[in-house]
Amino acid sequence: MLYENFKEFSLEDQLDWFKATLHSIHDGVLVIDSKEIVKLINPEYSRITGVQPNEIIGKPLRLVRPKAQLIETLKDGKERIGVYRKEGSVEYVVDMAPIILNNEIIGAVSICKGLTEVHKLSKELEKNKQKLTQLKERMDILYQAKYTFDQIIGSESGLKGVVHLGRKAAESNLPVLIIGESGTGKELFAQAIHNASSRAEKPFIPVNCASIPESLIESELFGYTEGTFTSAKKGGKLGLFEIANSGTIFLDEIGELSYDLQAKLLRVLQEKTLRRVGEAGERQIDVRVIAATNRDLKQLIEKKRFREDLYFRLNVLHLDIPPLRKRKQDIPDIIDLILHKHNLHSESERYYRLHQSTLAILKAYDWIGNVRELKNTIDYAVCMADERDILPEHLPSSFHGENISISKKNSNYLLKAAVEETEKNIITDVLQKHGSELEDKKKAAKELGVSLATLYNKMKKYQLYDF
Ligand SMILES: Nc1ncnc2c1ncn2[C@@H]1O[C@H](COP(=O)(O)OP(=O)(O)OP(=O)(O)O)[C@@H](O)[C@H]1O
Ligand SMILES: [Mg+2]
Repeated sequence: MLYENFKEFSLEDQLDWFKATLHSIHDGVLVIDSKEIVKLINPEYSRITGVQPNEIIGKPLRLVRPKAQLIETLKDGKERIGVYRKEGSVEYVVDMAPIILNNEIIGAVSICKGLTEVHKLSKELEKNKQKLTQLKERMDILYQAKYTFDQIIGSESGLKGVVHLGRKAAESNLPVLIIGESGTGKELFAQAIHNASSRAEKPFIPVNCASIPESLIESELFGYTEGTFTSAKKGGKLGLFEIANSGTIFLDEIGELSYDLQAKLLRVLQEKTLRRVGEAGERQIDVRVIAATNRDLKQLIEKKRFREDLYFRLNVLHLDIPPLRKRKQDIPDIIDLILHKHNLHSESERYYRLHQSTLAILKAYDWIGNVRELKNTIDYAVCMADERDILPEHLPSSFHGENISISKKNSNYLLKAAVEETEKNIITDVLQKHGSELEDKKKAAKELGVSLATLYNKMKKYQLYDF
């Protein structure tokens, strides 16, 4: 049943209306009469099939399109839907139906859709799907925390206590505040907590609050809705909190967050909801917050630069990472780890090791830049070392001459190391001269002026096992 209301138009006008309608349809249309003569096609039919009106109008359909099934529809009066057709290189899908007037079949109509575009679109869709998968994989890698507690180096008397607290923190969902100087390993701890928590498989999103311009930080953290700014993206933008949903967000340098935004962050922590910039409603959010700073937050609170309520909310679990100069006992192990990584990746067979006198210098140093500075120093020295031994001369210039920051207490240590180094070298030379048999060692002890037992003790101390 066709619903129309053309009664006020003349017959001629009605015809024009129908023609215009057929012109604007995005499917190809072909109509034949009861004698199989083509009465009408629209421009889309020509575009899809390549058949021009003068080639087909007024002619028997079979003459121009020998395989046309529309004749069947004309004969049996049955609809045919989604029939696949291929003429030359052109592919299309056709729906066919009889035209019935007063219970009599007076013709048939075929409606066709070109497949070239469909193919093109589906190929494009497939390409985009692949891109999306690749992007998602990259995003997953990007948003993965790589460190675990096992990779945090620290001795019992050094960092172990903080590691223990960190492991406890990982068992809960509470906010954590990590305090420590630059380069002490705050991000390392944040990653380890995330990886040891039930959220390990979910995203870990690190945000440096100091590196995002003040004007952008709210929309970066909470996102915005479409049309909020002139430069706003279509469809709005996800904020970092939403990207971190069900995972962990690490807010580094939290002390740099503006007072205004601190209030908004407090709301997220308390209500577990956030509001995108420009949006009226609130969204539920499940994100664990780990914050870090190297600033004295209590001092900032006094100066009214940090909100006390946010401080208490964040400070539920508190990790204080001591600076490296206060846990110098950790230095050898950290150096070992760094050298181990170099040795693993070394293309030559060279196995780097730190000379005692170099270690003495490093232990005496103040490490304002903490573990990061230590790591950079060792990386530099490895690069400078010609042989496997890393000597004091391989250290950066700040460790030479007057620049070196060694306290009096530490210079005793330096002397001891130098004496030990000389002793080790002399013993090695003499052992090499005499050989590895018991008799040879007796001769070596005699030359050195020590008992055989003392020689064995020294060999053990300096790990001289090759003799
Ligand atoms: N205890 C540790 N064991 C092993 N590596 C460590 C340790 N502490 C720090 N590092 C390494 O030192 C570097 C600096 O650590 P990290 O980036 O976590 O410091 P940070 O406190 O976040 O510094 P900043 O305040 O400058 O952001 C990293 O390469 C990290 O892997
Ligand atoms: Mg950091």
